Amino acid sequence: MLPETDWEQYWDRIYVPDETKRRLFNYARFTLTRRKTFSLVGLPVHGIALLRGAPGTGKSSLVKGLAHRLATEAGDEGLMFAEVNAHALPSQMLGDSQRNTVNLLERALPELAEKGHPVVVLIDEIDSIATDRDRASAGTDPVDVARATEAALQGLDHLAAAAPNMVIFATSNFPQAIDPAFLSRLDLTFELDLPDRTTTTAILRDALDEVGTDMDDDARVKAAAALAGMSGRDIRKLVFEAVISRESSVAVDAPIKEKELWTAIEARTTTKTREAAT
Ligand SMILES: Nc1ncnc2c1ncn2[C@@H]1O[C@H](COP(=O)(O)OP(=O)(O)OP(=O)(O)O)[C@@H](O)[C@H]1O
Ligand SMILES: [Mg+2]
Repeated sequence: MLPETDWEQYWDRIYVPDETKRRLFNYARFTLTRRKTFSLVGLPVHGIALLRGAPGTGKSSLVKGLAHRLATEAGDEGLMFAEVNAHALPSQMLGDSQRNTVNLLERALPELAEKGHPVVVLIDEIDSIATDRDRASAGTDPVDVARATEAALQGLDHLAAAAPNMVIFATSNFPQAIDPAFLSRLDLTFELDLPDRTTTTAILRDALDEVGTDMDDDARVKAAAALAGMSGRDIRKLVFEAVISRESSVAVDAPIKEKELWTAIEARTTTKTREAAT
């Protein structure tokens, strides 16, 4: 049950364009409150959207932050949040993948929705249960994959009608692998790009504030300029790298110095160059 005070940061400290946050919020609010008043034929809103983007761009975090935000609006009624790791559903056992998908979409989730609260569901790695039937990878039985994907499609249609108080956010960093019929059921796709220069600076600033630093703003802006192409997760991990790479004589809670951050940046750049060369 949400809200959960700690979760405010999944919204406030994940830096994406304001427009993305606004659209996410409006979409979820519309689906949770207004959708039930529309006919599924007149306005086929399935209550499912996709967040796509490279690893570490904030997809899963934003959905949690969004759920928390919606819950603070829902008042006393509360809001339920469920997280599903789709990666756990496919099985080597013939027929099990399909059974697991049916169980999730036609039993577990409708049962949650029946409790009457608004429900936000995060399904991570959706490509593993809505796999493109024409692209089933080697080692998997194509008939089994097709059956599991068909079960997912049917399950979504079932949920659209049976659970108008539920909104599902699926995430993927491998959207090429998703079945076209699944894509066509999505209400919206949210694209999360790698952070631009301004966003990188904001993330770096935030991560440095977490550990403490004596770097002034000019120094932070300069360092951020060297981090092009990194995801939000990479940027925060780089600051962590700077913390653990410092001289052992430095106190653990001493603020990070500019030089220490640059040592971590240079180490990262050298590794990247070496990787590119091999
Ligand atoms: N846009 C961002 N702004 C600030 N921090 C970010 C951002 N994106 C990611 N992070 C940091 O990286 C962490 C991991 O992000 P998250 O798990 O939400 O990424 P993801 O897109 O779901 O990644 P994956 O595709 O690997 O599941 C966050 O908790 C946060 O610390
Ligand atoms: Mg994720």
